[in-house]
Amino acid sequence: MSEPSFRAKFACSEGCDFRASLTEVVYRCPTCGGLLEVRHDLSALRSRAASEWRSLFDSRFGAARLPLASGVWGKREWVYPDLEDGDIVSLGEGRQPLLPLPRLAAELGLASVDLKQCGISATGSFKDLGMTVLVSAVARMRRLGRRVRAVACASTGDTSAALSAYCAAAGIPSVVFLPRGKVSLAQLVQPISNGALVLSLETDFDGCMRIVQEVTRDPSIYLANSMNSLRLEGQKIVAVELCQQLGWEAPDWVIVPGGNLGNAGALGMGFELMLSLGLIDRRPRIAVAQAEKANPLVRAFRSGFADLSAVQAQPTLATAIQIGSPVSMRRAARTLRSFDGVVEEAAEQDLSDAAARADLEGAFTCPQTGVALAALSKLARAGTIARGSRVVVVSTAHGLKFYGFKEGYHRGTLAEVDGRWRNPPVEVRATAQAVEEALDRRLG
Ligand SMILES: Cc1ncc(COP(=O)(O)O)c(C=O)c1O
Ligand SMILES: [Zn+2]
Repeated sequence: MSEPSFRAKFACSEGCDFRASLTEVVYRCPTCGGLLEVRHDLSALRSRAASEWRSLFDSRFGAARLPLASGVWGKREWVYPDLEDGDIVSLGEGRQPLLPLPRLAAELGLASVDLKQCGISATGSFKDLGMTVLVSAVARMRRLGRRVRAVACASTGDTSAALSAYCAAAGIPSVVFLPRGKVSLAQLVQPISNGALVLSLETDFDGCMRIVQEVTRDPSIYLANSMNSLRLEGQKIVAVELCQQLGWEAPDWVIVPGGNLGNAGALGMGFELMLSLGLIDRRPRIAVAQAEKANPLVRAFRSGFADLSAVQAQPTLATAIQIGSPVSMRRAARTLRSFDGVVEEAAEQDLSDAAARADLEGAFTCPQTGVALAALSKLARAGTIARGSRVVVVSTAHGLKFYGFKEGYHRGTLAEVDGRWRNPPVEVRATAQAVEEALDRRLG
């Protein structure tokens, strides 16, 4: 039997009838200016039964070699169906652990809390999931003769790390726009090592985003921010993979930290696709978590999404989501409406304690994940997340990228934070007796 031909194209996400090939350099609908989305041919995808999709994806989950060993490309028919093997630029993204936190779940009266560890990845954040798709798409465009001199992004750190690594793998030049002094050293050193042109600008992320949008009006400089919907095609796999890991069931709640808000929309797209193809039969509720210091979506939620205005983001420990003017705000609002969603915020103290608390159960969480975990506690204690719920928290980056935050927490040097779970190193004389005394003090 021949393979059914699966297809996908760009479509206006606001409902206009604009369509374009995925090889076109286009980011917005020319009619309404809205963002685009990748629209799959659902009737072709429906030619396979839900049970067939499940067993196909399950059989590939153990694949040994790339590209099918990638969690994204193991589901390639749902991502970018007509991409050829030779175009795929993969660093082995996806297939990331779902780490149970049973003690936290018990404390909050929940059936389960699982951390979807998207930071366990080539460049240490969930951005790899989307970047493999975008850079593969660029490799295809270049093969087809389109002139793309470089791929560019504005970044709070993680996007630039992912872009530069995938471009390095593909041999494609990359350019990253970073807000000077606002990304961690671990993040900064990644694009430098991968050979990107690193532009350090005296502005914040929102300022970098404005400039990169101007610069990428030149179609030979391709835009890699999440307003480019190719990224979301990879990021939506987080939703699919976590349901797969739960035995093809949706949890009751998914909590995700939100900055530019691409991820929130991407999760919604993953769940929608599984619902329309019958792989899951119920909608989870979605909670987006923001830092109090950069909370435009929190304010929008309070207005019933009537007011989607930007805010001036204030400095927060959760630097990767220090964004006041999210590009994907409308898309996130739509997602929250259809997933009976909520938006919650976290103070600096709470996000820091929540991250440290999860580490005591074997994780090593970044401050953004701390925001999501603090929101989880607030929502569970308020009863919004009902007792007995099954919750998945999306952990978006590896804590090692934010070692300054971790170190500062445990040393007690973070502004506005008096760490409840501080565990600084104990200084002892180098004698067995002094060490034994220290052991007794700690272990009783
Ligand atoms: C670690 C981390 N968490 C969360 C986010 C927010 O994701 P989004 O911009 O898709 O809302 C980002 C990037 O912006 C990030 O780097
Ligand atoms: Zn439109």
